[in-house]
Amino acid sequence: MVRIIFLLFSAILFSFSTADDTLTPGRPLTDDSEASLISVGGKFQLGFFSPVGSSNRYVGIWFCNVSVDSVVWIANRRRPIASKSGILSLTANGTLLIADGNGNGTTVYWSSSTEVSVANPVAQLLDDANLVVREAGGDQNTYPAWQSHDFPTNIHLPGMKLGWNLTSGFNRQLTAWTSATDPAPGIYTLGIEKQGNAQEFVWQGTQPRWRSGPWNGLYFSGVPTIELDSLLRQEFVVDEQEVAAWFTVGNPSVILRSVLMPDGLLRSESWIEETQTWNVRAYVPMDRCDSFYACGPNAVCYPNAWPLCQCLPGFRPRNPQNWDVIGNPSDGCVRTTALDCQNGTDRFFQQSSVKLPDTTASAVNRSMSLEDCRSWCLRNCSCTAYASANLSTGSESGCMIWTSGLADIKFLYGSSSPQPLYVRLAAADLVTATEPMESGQRRMLTIIISVSCVAVLFFVCVACCVWAAKKKKKNRADEEVEEENLNLPLFDLGTIAEATGNFCMDNKLGEGGFGPVYKGKLKEGQEIAVKRLSKTSMQGTDEFKNEVMVIAKLQHRNLVRLLGCCVQGGERMLIYEYMLNGSLDTFLFGWLAKSLMIHKTHVRLICKIFDFLLACYRPDRDKCRLLDWRMRYNIILGIARGLLYLHHDSRYRIIHRDLKTSNILLDKDMNPKISDFGMAKLFGGDETTGNTKRVIWSLWKENRTSEIVHDSICHSLSFDEVLTCIKVGLLCVQERPEDRPIMCFVLQMLVSNSSLLPEPKQPGFVVTSNQIDNDSSGALLSINRLSVIILEGR
Ligand SMILES: *[C@@H]1O[C@H](CO)[C@@H](O)[C@H](O)[C@H]1NC(C)=O
Ligand SMILES: *[C@@H]1O[C@H](CO)[C@@H](O)[C@H](O)[C@H]1NC(C)=O
Ligand SMILES: *[C@@H]1O[C@H](CO)[C@@H](O)[C@H](O)[C@H]1NC(C)=O
Ligand SMILES: *[C@@H]1O[C@H](CO)[C@@H](O)[C@H](O)[C@H]1NC(C)=O
Ligand SMILES: *[C@@H]1O[C@H](CO)[C@@H](O)[C@H](O)[C@H]1NC(C)=O
Ligand SMILES: *[C@@H]1O[C@H](CO)[C@@H](O)[C@H](O)[C@H]1NC(C)=O
Ligand SMILES: *[C@@H]1O[C@H](CO)[C@@H](O)[C@H](O)[C@H]1NC(C)=O
Ligand SMILES: *[C@@H]1O[C@H](CO)[C@@H](O)[C@H](O)[C@H]1NC(C)=O
Repeated sequence: MVRIIFLLFSAILFSFSTADDTLTPGRPLTDDSEASLISVGGKFQLGFFSPVGSSNRYVGIWFCNVSVDSVVWIANRRRPIASKSGILSLTANGTLLIADGNGNGTTVYWSSSTEVSVANPVAQLLDDANLVVREAGGDQNTYPAWQSHDFPTNIHLPGMKLGWNLTSGFNRQLTAWTSATDPAPGIYTLGIEKQGNAQEFVWQGTQPRWRSGPWNGLYFSGVPTIELDSLLRQEFVVDEQEVAAWFTVGNPSVILRSVLMPDGLLRSESWIEETQTWNVRAYVPMDRCDSFYACGPNAVCYPNAWPLCQCLPGFRPRNPQNWDVIGNPSDGCVRTTALDCQNGTDRFFQQSSVKLPDTTASAVNRSMSLEDCRSWCLRNCSCTAYASANLSTGSESGCMIWTSGLADIKFLYGSSSPQPLYVRLAAADLVTATEPMESGQRRMLTIIISVSCVAVLFFVCVACCVWAAKKKKKNRADEEVEEENLNLPLFDLGTIAEATGNFCMDNKLGEGGFGPVYKGKLKEGQEIAVKRLSKTSMQGTDEFKNEVMVIAKLQHRNLVRLLGCCVQGGERMLIYEYMLNGSLDTFLFGWLAKSLMIHKTHVRLICKIFDFLLACYRPDRDKCRLLDWRMRYNIILGIARGLLYLHHDSRYRIIHRDLKTSNILLDKDMNPKISDFGMAKLFGGDETTGNTKRVIWSLWKENRTSEIVHDSICHSLSFDEVLTCIKVGLLCVQERPEDRPIMCFVLQMLVSNSSLLPEPKQPGFVVTSNQIDNDSSGALLSINRLSVIILEGR
């Protein structure tokens, strides 16, 4: 009934052309009449079209409501028609044909390949963009004689399956266009490798270029963020009938698609109705570690580290010369000690937060327990590692084992993966493998230290003698009392001097507000950062130690841990744990970072979200990619948590008065840790006045948020998260302190939904558009001429 009304309706609406959703024999679609099919829900249209920049004619399916780049499927992508003379027809046996209508009409440009002949065929365009050929009046649920979803082009849509039909041996893959204007099959394909434990791959010809990692019931090992996606749900099935991947969308009004670009990039995009643009939500490959096999066997690729590749614990570079000096890691790593399978002494090292190695040659058993998996691996002398295969039960279960070199392992920052890799090691190697090694970095550091510090060896000797003499003079009784009072280790000046190569310039990490900071390494191997406080603005020794004790008691995963102090020979030093990834501002290169202001109080730091966002406008866009959106969001969240702890949860209520990006350090896993907290206590109320230089309110007011977030640059972002952060940022810079959020609310806002936030009012400073310079590229906002307004923090 509904259908009849629709047909009547569409017949009235399109009285000059066919606007049905079905094609029957004897009623072809001709290009010159501009006829087309429209799906029942009005979502998709099928007809003849020309791509932008080309006059060739193709038969395709496109989104009705999308004005830009809307084509989702093409029939004759290999053989276009040169003029508007094409005819799409359905033959009496159910074959679709595209032929030339000129002359005698016998040139066939494309035909659907059906092996079964259909008695009374009808071709119908469905609302999921699927063109199906089946018997008229036949059961809608039976597998159609032919369907366009089985022959995808470069677009993956919700509900569309990629992968293998194991009964028919049929494989569905995406194939990119040759170029932006030519839909002919390009060199990149996306599909499923069913060998071993199945994975998605992007191939360039026959060469793998990107790998999703194996499916674990919740997500692909290398793409853990799929699980957090609020818009789509990824599905994957492996059984006797099929090995297939697809995704579904909860909200049918959201237009989503995945596109395999001509350059091999796989992008997930959503259509933004307001701006009439495609918004890039995520993309792969995202960094150098996404390139297939970037590091050779048995190595882990760290996207933000230098060197990029590091051997797995218990392994060493096969060719150290290439590895360290030339920086060519493709030889990979070999075992330090051979496995001892016969005697059964081998152990496993748990490597967390990684994309699991290539499973093309892996054996998998999804019903095995993790304990059985371990013993299965131990029993098989060629087993090199194992991991769980099924996380959908809520814990690690199922089993996959690797029996050769471990290929293409990527470290996943900011993800505490519940699916670690258990690497088989000789017992002797496990002892040294308690923490991931950075052998390359250490070696390099050793070279640097030894070369550059030889020159000052002489001075070290002299200094040692002086210190030894001073130490003797020290009041020993005094020291013992202090050792009792303090749970905090007091480091000996000699130890620190040795660890830092006598404060060698090459070990200097930077110059903080309170003195220089040096990198050091204790005899036991622990890496430390030593803050050598400048000798001015000092309290008495006892007072100093008391304050240090207070600071040392503050322990939180988002605060840098104070390991101890050193008060000796007129020196005052604080010893912290060393943060592998340096400070946040090393990630914010360039002039923008330099112009970051120092805020007076904590709340304003959250406003640094602006800087993260604006960082995307820097001319040096590659650097911008170092921090993807999710990582930034994690960092902001971590900072907020650390501050909340300092302000409300700790007994001491420390107010951080000198928050800036260089005081946010990043550990190996890119977790943010606040440093320099409590320094105000040590130095008295030495406050730093905040200068604020800001652009963007006007963009918000005009509802042009997506301009702030330049979509082609900040790829991996979720629009809602960006919206939340922008809102929080705007709330933070409100003119009246009452309108600014307090700290715990900031945290709440960051983890909650943006729609629940109060609407920000105009902030305490506004830049009108004539104050904004557009540079030649048009994307870079210049803040040179902006007035500097000082705001009081709340
Ligand atoms: C297409 O857009 C119009 C106008 O925005 C809207 O009313 C209609 O529901 C949309 N159709 C579909 C199928 O989304
Ligand atoms: C018609 O068909 C013949 C062969 O079947 C072919 O050679 C010829 O090019 C076709 N087209 C025209 C316009 O005659
Ligand atoms: C259907 O008809 C076309 C020509 O009309 C022919 O080429 C094709 O082989 C037929 N297919 C089957 C399955 O009979
Ligand atoms: C595989 O293809 C056959 C026909 O070729 C079809 O009957 C079957 O339903 C398909 N299996 C799946 C899982 O789609
Ligand atoms: C994971 O294990 C559960 C429970 O045994 C099972 O129901 C589910 O199908 C398994 N998932 C996969 C992908 O094998
Ligand atoms: C097994 O242990 C024995 C005795 O410790 C040792 O001699 C032998 O080399 C070991 N076997 C292997 C394969 O390492
Ligand atoms: C998987 O493991 C279970 C339990 O160990 C075993 O019973 C089953 O035979 C294994 N399946 C395969 C296909 O090896
Ligand atoms: C070890 O496992 C691999 C992969 O399942 C298998 O091919 C090989 O035969 C096994 N070797 C032994 C000795 O069991």
